[in-house]
Amino acid sequence: MSTPTSSDPQVHVIDHPLVQHKLTLMRRKDASTNSFRTLLNELSMLMAYEVTRDMPTQEVEIETPLETMTAKMIDGKKLVLVSILRAGTGILDGMLTVVPGARVGHIGLYRDPKTLQAVEYYFKMPKDTQERDVVVVDPMLATGNSAVAAIDRVKALKPKSIKFVCLLTCPEGIATLRKAHPDVDIYTAAVDRQLNSHGYILPGLGDAGDRIFGTQ
Ligand code: URA
Repeated sequence: MSTPTSSDPQVHVIDHPLVQHKLTLMRRKDASTNSFRTLLNELSMLMAYEVTRDMPTQEVEIETPLETMTAKMIDGKKLVLVSILRAGTGILDGMLTVVPGARVGHIGLYRDPKTLQAVEYYFKMPKDTQERDVVVVDPMLATGNSAVAAIDRVKALKPKSIKFVCLLTCPEGIATLRKAHPDVDIYTAAVDRQLNSHGYILPGLGDAGDRIFGTQ
């Protein structure tokens, strides 16, 4: 279940009880690295259901043990999951469990701690991106600068469509991304209150990368 926010139908808050429950467990500061990572994995699988809801299917003929029938299948290869390094890996793994045929791209970006601007250090995408639908993933849509920079790069390859998936966002991040890329729908489990002066989401869950990889 995903609900477009009342003010913006292109921001989809995935308010399924299982998603909300797991997010709450992840937010707690005493969640271990292992449980944080496991929960993110499970949550990403659940979010993948919503994000792939409009994926095209094709009819194929199959044999059941009893008879021949025509049934629907997706072509997972038409989907490219693009992970913004390093925290995007946490969402990527769960989504790949559900759509194992998807292709994968990576964008390495770090946040300059002074300017909070995104600095690129790596970019690798599958071939023929113009024939595929792209889903860019990053757990936190905070300032929005990394998401905008990543989508700028992906858009230059002219994919059929682009969606952005995060775990958490805030009004500032949504505004920045919607302004730069009004054609990109945002999928999130929650819209939190605000950013702090260091670019962290409040109340948030802290540094997603540190919590996934135990580097705090
Ligand atoms: N990145 C994070 O990991 N956490 C935030 O709160 C904001 C950006």
